[in-house]
Amino acid sequence: MKFALYIVTACCITGLAFGGEPRQPGADAASAALKNAAEASEASLKQGQALYKQYCITCHAADGSGKTDMTEMLDVPPASFIEPKWKYGASDGEIFSVIKDGGQNGMQPFSDKIPDARIWNLVNYLRSFSKPVDGGAAAAAPKEEIPKNPIAYSPESVALGKQYYARVCVVCHGMNGKGDTEMREFLSTHPSDLTDSEWKYGSEDGHLFLIIKNGTEYDMKPFKDLLDDEKTWHVVNYMRSLGKKK
Ligand code: HEC
Ligand code: HEC
Repeated sequence: MKFALYIVTACCITGLAFGGEPRQPGADAASAALKNAAEASEASLKQGQALYKQYCITCHAADGSGKTDMTEMLDVPPASFIEPKWKYGASDGEIFSVIKDGGQNGMQPFSDKIPDARIWNLVNYLRSFSKPVDGGAAAAAPKEEIPKNPIAYSPESVALGKQYYARVCVVCHGMNGKGDTEMREFLSTHPSDLTDSEWKYGSEDGHLFLIIKNGTEYDMKPFKDLLDDEKTWHVVNYMRSLGKKK
């Protein structure tokens, strides 16, 4: 009994020595008041990305979705940063504190591995998942009106779209649209599965159209120079046919 008590005390003291108490879910005024010490410059995002790859990717995934094998091993899935709910508070300071002191449910503290100054770069990088850099289609979408598909869905349109798709998309997304091509080994992000009806950047025809035109900040290239608007809409219709087949 005494021995068990000793272990508990020792662990708590060590815990304190390496940062604070684990963050409790909810808002925390003291953390919220912390000022982000790093401007979200390109250099800061690069540093943040490197740290993220080293320490966070196993649980939170390269695309920030939190969809990893770790989901099965943890009681609570790793947080997604794409549509973040920020359970522990949405301010930069609160995000900083979760990374530094840890949270509940398997989010460990990183205060003994990553110095404070660098944790701020991680905060900036996490934000970029939900706020892609300029030029990304998702960034363009709220400003740009989401266009309406002017070409009705028809077997003819699907057949045309298929031709263009086979020419320029197939190398990464595969003819079946599942994205399970060899290109996966060469890209930082796996080509999306276009058949699962899950759309990271929005599910309307107009969202798909803008992604094809403008690309994303990860390896989805812009195709506006290769495909004019009309061809792009046919490709959108073809993508719809892939989803329907499932
Ligand atoms: C062992 C797996 C694991 C690793 C590694 C990990 N996390 Fe987490 N993280 C989690 C889990 C699980 C949660 C969800 C905790 C909860 O909901 O209570 C989480 C939650 C978070 C949150 C809170 C999000 C919110 O909704 O408020 C942030 C921020 C975060 N992680 C950042 C990071 C960063 C940055 C790294 C790398 C330095 C990292 N995590 C590494 C498992 C992990
Ligand atoms: C060089 C490889 C490559 C080529 C070629 C390519 N893609 Fe992609 N595509 C990707 C990658 C990687 C992603 C995931 C990007 C991300 O998560 O930001 C993606 C994502 C997408 C998405 C977003 C899916 C979502 O969940 O919102 C759509 C739509 C898409 N591609 C359609 C196409 C179409 C149509 C073409 C042909 C005109 C094409 N892609 C050509 C690599 C490629």
